[in-house]
Amino acid sequence: MGVYAVTGAASGMGRAAADRLRAAGHTVIGIDLKEGDVVADLSTPAGRSDAVRQTLERAGNRLDGAVLAAGLGPVPGMEQAIAQVNVRGVIELLEGWRPALAATGNSKVVVFGSNSTTTTPAVPMSAVRAFLAGDLEKGGRRAGRIRPAAAPFTYAASKIAVTHWARRNAVTPDWAGSGIRLNVLAPGAVATPLLETQLASPEGKRVRSFPVPIGGFGDPDRIAEWVEFMLSPAADFLVGSVVVVDGGSEAWFRAVDW
Ligand code: NAI
Repeated sequence: MGVYAVTGAASGMGRAAADRLRAAGHTVIGIDLKEGDVVADLSTPAGRSDAVRQTLERAGNRLDGAVLAAGLGPVPGMEQAIAQVNVRGVIELLEGWRPALAATGNSKVVVFGSNSTTTTPAVPMSAVRAFLAGDLEKGGRRAGRIRPAAAPFTYAASKIAVTHWARRNAVTPDWAGSGIRLNVLAPGAVATPLLETQLASPEGKRVRSFPVPIGGFGDPDRIAEWVEFMLSPAADFLVGSVVVVDGGSEAWFRAVDW
């Protein structure tokens, strides 16, 4: 049985993943804003370094895997927090945990991306580049130029940035070369509190009309099964991949790319 760190473990898909791992007999260190084994605010540098330190203490500097599910949706007015949590809340935690993930020799990481990375048109790549360079203010300004859609563009740019980061690092000596399988799970619209907030907002109509060929919204427990699969021996050969589970939205928009 393994030891897994799960951010965003208090709600939605992070909680569902943590529940499944615990039910399978693993030890889960849940990290979240208000409740969990580690309570930390991932929107601040201090909160992130605290989350890294406390998790490593609890894990004894050895992790079999990590799930990075903490995230903020495209809520207007929250653009800087979106960038902080969705980008730095992934990169800084994983950089801090990397030696503990390498220590077990065969570990697996699932980063929550999103199908918004490929279904949101014209996301400014200058915003993505700024996020990757750690300049969140500049990235926010660049993404925010497209009004009134600043929050959706910031959200998509944040998810593109972590997806790039994961794919770029996954294949390096520090990650794959150290036995760490780093992959991205990119869900579509999944029925969680994050989606409920969007549906209840002025954006709700647009979210409801977003094409989902199979119909309805995803179930967080089914997505958690994908997380468990991506942490299992079945994923020994899965490295730097983006697994899209979205009811067909991505194919609907991008089928012609093939
Ligand atoms: P959720 O809102 O149910 O759960 C997110 C968790 O992140 C919450 O427990 C929240 O407290 C935590 N969190 C937020 N800000 C934090 C902070 N500053 N510090 C610590 N923890 C913080 O969301 P959901 O839907 O389960 O999302 C999980 C991941 O999946 C997110 O990264 C989200 O962007 C992504 N995603 C969600 C989709 C959806 O339709 N629900 C679609 C595609 C991606």
